[in-house]
Amino acid sequence: MTSAEFYSHARLYDLMFPGGGPAVDYYRAEADRQGGRVLELGCGTGHKLIPIAADGHPSVGLDFSADMLAEAQRKADERGVAVEWTQGDMRDFDLDGTFGLVFITANSLLHLQEAEDLVSCFRSVRGHLAPGARFVFDVFNPSVRLLAEADGVRRTRESLSFLDPDRGTVSVDVAETYDAAAQVTRGTWYLSTDAAPDFVVAPLEIRSIFPQELPLLVSLGGLRLVERLGDWSGRPFALDAPIQLCVCESA
Ligand SMILES: C[S@@+](CC[C@H](N)C(=O)[O-])C[C@H]1O[C@@H](n2cnc3c(N)ncnc32)[C@H](O)[C@@H]1O
Repeated sequence: MTSAEFYSHARLYDLMFPGGGPAVDYYRAEADRQGGRVLELGCGTGHKLIPIAADGHPSVGLDFSADMLAEAQRKADERGVAVEWTQGDMRDFDLDGTFGLVFITANSLLHLQEAEDLVSCFRSVRGHLAPGARFVFDVFNPSVRLLAEADGVRRTRESLSFLDPDRGTVSVDVAETYDAAAQVTRGTWYLSTDAAPDFVVAPLEIRSIFPQELPLLVSLGGLRLVERLGDWSGRPFALDAPIQLCVCESA
């Protein structure tokens, strides 16, 4: 798994991506609407799942990374919130019981690069849906123009720089290329301070799912795409939408 090194720095991940915002509100409302148990795949450090569990929903978080799960557990304990954290692979998992809501957010699904892996994940999801349950996921809406701009040159992402209490200001550089045949953006992320240039160098790869292939992949997994929104406010999906926010049911 090419993203494993990147996600082995959970504390830095949380400083770089502090979470919150409309995605949390959306999934909390979705959990309230659905009722029953909630499962998040690729739950990371629990940005969405801890607030959902705090709302009173029995919650299970599955992630590949022991480091991300340990940080999730630490934060949940600190808040006195009970969540069942489990280490596993979203491509193929077998958990006890079924869920009213299963979700995958923040492009986590796009770490699965092969079509077979996506279909296998959707099949596993289907096996965990209670009657009337929904499976919701969000992935970015790929822009061919932006993908083509990935030229392999290392550039600073000013908006991602953050303050680490132990190290001081951390700057973030990224170099990316786009492999059009695989539909995968291959990046290298560099974290630096003045005293420690490149103290983290980690690959991060992310697939694109194009709008026309998305419903086909979903249906091959035994699911049906019932709604596709284009942003967190509920605007229907359109060409220029930033995300594909997909609501699925068992087919
Ligand atoms: C971008 S983070 C998102 C974390 C969290 N969902 C959030 O919203 O903050 C992606 C997460 O997916 C996890 N992940 C990647 N591939 C996975 C796989 N095959 N199975 C389970 N988790 C995976 C990573 O370990 C990481 O924690």
